[in-house]
Amino acid sequence: MANARIERASTADLPFIMATERVEGYDRFVGRWDEARHLAALADGHYAYFLARDGVTPLGFAIVRDWASAERVTCVKRIAVASPGNGLGRQLLREVIDCIFRDTDAHRVWLGVFPENERARRAYEAVGFKAEGVARGNAFFGGIYRDELIMAILRPEWTRVPRAS
Ligand SMILES: CC(C)(COP(=O)(O)OP(=O)(O)OC[C@H]1O[C@@H](n2cnc3c(N)ncnc32)[C@H](O)[C@@H]1OP(=O)(O)O)[C@@H](O)C(=O)NCCC(=O)NCCS
Repeated sequence: MANARIERASTADLPFIMATERVEGYDRFVGRWDEARHLAALADGHYAYFLARDGVTPLGFAIVRDWASAERVTCVKRIAVASPGNGLGRQLLREVIDCIFRDTDAHRVWLGVFPENERARRAYEAVGFKAEGVARGNAFFGGIYRDELIMAILRPEWTRVPRAS
């Protein structure tokens, strides 16, 4: 069972973040940026980076886009953990969502997931995200347009999610 500390990430965490984006097999599920793109996002107030750590050891990251947007709609742009299937993704996402609803006026938090990524979908459902439908050709990924399942959680739903797991 995961028991990590979740905190805002900084440029010092980029080597871990970039290595995790590039874990073998993750290229089917998650995008990857070069260092310049990450540095630009880190310096941009529309983005917020989060890191899960056990002591000094980084375990996973999440990138939030449209942080504190005037539209009150925020996107979890990317999330990945170094060692999947151990509950960390749920913990990380839950705390990131807590942070969004606590620190901003967001009403809706959404993400897009490739429909076949069952592990991710289960983690998202466990923290209260609901599948809303398939957005056709929503991701230009690996040189092709791919469909994404859109999942979201609204502020009134967040307070009702049980915190046991
Ligand atoms: C998506 C991700 C962040 C989720 O984090 P995680 O730590 O693996 O998630 P959790 O362990 O909290 O939950 C995973 C769920 O999937 C289930 N699961 C584990 N391995 C699975 C597999 N191979 N296939 C289907 N389900 C699986 C787990 O049992 C758990 O479901 P449950 O709570 O109903 O039992 C992580 O898997 C990851 O980094 N994946 C690679 C990158 C990626 O896909 N990112 C998301 C792009 S949208």
